[in-house]
Amino acid sequence: TVERTLSIIKPDATARNLTGAINAKFEAAGLRIVAQRRIRMTLDQAGAFYAVHAARPFYDELRSFMASGPVVVQVLEGEGAVAKNREVMGATNPAEAAEGTVRKEFALSIGENSVHGSDSAENAATEIAFFFSGLDIVG
Ligand code: CMP
Repeated sequence: TVERTLSIIKPDATARNLTGAINAKFEAAGLRIVAQRRIRMTLDQAGAFYAVHAARPFYDELRSFMASGPVVVQVLEGEGAVAKNREVMGATNPAEAAEGTVRKEFALSIGENSVHGSDSAENAATEIAFFFSGLDIVG
């Protein structure tokens, strides 16, 4: 099934000019970038996006990091896009990420881990709607 997922290139990666290198990995895996925008989130916006993690001990660190610099929010489309994107990203903790994945190559730590990707098709729909309207997405 062709599906869509929400991806974020995080501040640690935009700071090191890695947007193109990361996008090249997505495209090489067959994911199509059907929407993309570079933004700087406020603390409140970052907190709202990650509201599901509000009770976690790392929530404050997570939202301040995500508001600390530019991010690139994007919609990736392809066959099994949610799972495929998670494969390309690698494990959340770069120390556990497989060879060739974005996080193995580029992530600095479990927090500064270069990319976010939706973890299910259901969450993808919610996360895409957080940043994009239907008119922004061109398949
Ligand atoms: P992400 O896929 O963006 O979803 C939630 C994020 O929380 C996750 O990637 C990590 O970057 C971050 N995270 C998870 N565990 C920790 C932790 N122990 N300390 C800091 N950040 C964390």
